[in-house]
Amino acid sequence: MTELDVEFVRRQFPAFDHPETGQWAFLENAGGAYAPSHVIDKLNHFMVATKVQPYGPSGPSEEAGRAMDLSHERLAAAINADVDEVMFGPSTSINTYVVAQALKERLRTGDEVIVTNQDHEANSGVWRRLADGNNGVIVREWAVDPETGRLDMAGLQRLLNERTRFVAVTHCSNVAGEIHDVAAIARQVHDAGARLAVDGVSYAPHDFPDVHALGVDFYFFSLYKTYGPHQGLMYVRRSVLEGIANQAHIFNADNPRARLTPAGPQHGEIACASGVVDYLEAMDAHHYGDDDTPACRDRVARIMALFHSHETEQAARILALLREKDVRIIGPERADVGKRAPTIAFRSNSVSNADVVARLRADKIACGAGHFYAYRLIEALGIDPNDGVVRLSLVHYNSADEVSRLLNALDDVL
Ligand SMILES: Cc1ncc(COP(=O)(O)O)c(C=O)c1O
Repeated sequence: MTELDVEFVRRQFPAFDHPETGQWAFLENAGGAYAPSHVIDKLNHFMVATKVQPYGPSGPSEEAGRAMDLSHERLAAAINADVDEVMFGPSTSINTYVVAQALKERLRTGDEVIVTNQDHEANSGVWRRLADGNNGVIVREWAVDPETGRLDMAGLQRLLNERTRFVAVTHCSNVAGEIHDVAAIARQVHDAGARLAVDGVSYAPHDFPDVHALGVDFYFFSLYKTYGPHQGLMYVRRSVLEGIANQAHIFNADNPRARLTPAGPQHGEIACASGVVDYLEAMDAHHYGDDDTPACRDRVARIMALFHSHETEQAARILALLREKDVRIIGPERADVGKRAPTIAFRSNSVSNADVVARLRADKIACGAGHFYAYRLIEALGIDPNDGVVRLSLVHYNSADEVSRLLNALDDVL
C-alpha cells in the first residue's frame, strides 16, 4: 500500500525551512495552513510581472487575466464543478453573507430556514438573520447532543417540512471534527423541496469535495486553509445561481463570476490559487506516477485520500492518549477515515486550557484555545465560550515525529 512521503511533502513548504517558523510543530492548521512554493511562486510572479489591472490591452494585463481564468478552471476541475459555478470572494464569511442577501429577497412569510448550532458562525448568523425585520420567515435550529457536540441525522428529518426553503450545515465542524454524510443530507433536503448550503471550510483541507456527486446547491470553503491564498471559494449550482438575486453591479448581472461577488476580485490571490491544484497534482504524481495522466479531479481525490489516511493515523494516536486522560473530548472519540477530521478539541477536567497551551508552547507546539467562532456549539456543550476548548488541528504535512512530540507534552501536562 502506498504511504504518504511526508518528508517530500514538507519540502514543498518553505515555512518548514524558515529558521524560526520551521522549529514549530504547527497544529493550528484549522486556523489557516502553510502554502507550498507552487502557490507562493505564482503570487510572487503576479506581484513582480503582472500587478496591473487584468484583462486589459497589454501583455502583462492579458497575462494577469489568463492567470485568474486558469484558477477558475483548475479549481472547478478539482471539485468537479463547471467553471461558471465557481466564484472567489475575500473569505467564506463574506461569501455566506452575500448569498444570504441574495436569498433574503426571495423569502416570503411562513418560509422556513434550518441552521445548526454546531456550525462556525459564518454558516449560522447570516442565515438566522434571514428572519429579521418581521418578514415572517421562521428559523429552526437543528441542535447538537449537548454531551458530545454531535448532530443526529434524524434531527434534521424532524425539522424538514413543505415550508422549508433552505438548510445550512457544515460538512465537518471546526471543533467537533465529525464529518457528515452530505450526500444523504442533500437527498433529504431536496426531497423536502429545499436548497442546501454546506460549509466545507473544515473539510476541504483533508479532501476536496466532488460537489456534483454530493448534490449540494452551495458549497463554501476557504483557500487559505487549503494551502492557498486568503480567498473564499464558493460553488453555486448553475440553476440555483440563475434563480437568485444579483448582488453585483447592474452590468454584471449576467456574469456568473460576479453575480454573487460584489467586492472587486483580489487579482493576485485569485491568480495564484491554481497553485493549490498544481501542488495536489504534483503530490499525486510523486506517489502514483504521472504516466497514466488521469483527470485532474481523479488525481486530487486520489492524493487527498492518501493525505487523509495519514492524518487519520496520527489523529488516532492523539485520541488514544486523550481517552486515557481525565478530559472531555468533543465529537467522535475515535479517528475513522471519512468520519472524522484530524481536528481534535478537548477540555481537561483538572488542568486549565491556558496551562495546556502554555505547556505545548514551551515545546514549540502551536495550538490554540477558545471557541473558534463555533460560539453556539461551545455554549450548547455547557462550556464558557470565553474559555472554550483546546484545539489541535492537523493536516497531511504534520509528521509522526511532530505528533510524538505532542504526545510527550500532553502526557506530561494532563
Ligand atoms: C468551519 C469554518 N467555517 C467558516 C469559516 C470562516 O471562514 P473565513 O475565515 O474564510 O471567513 C471558518 C474559519 O475559521 C471555519 O473554520
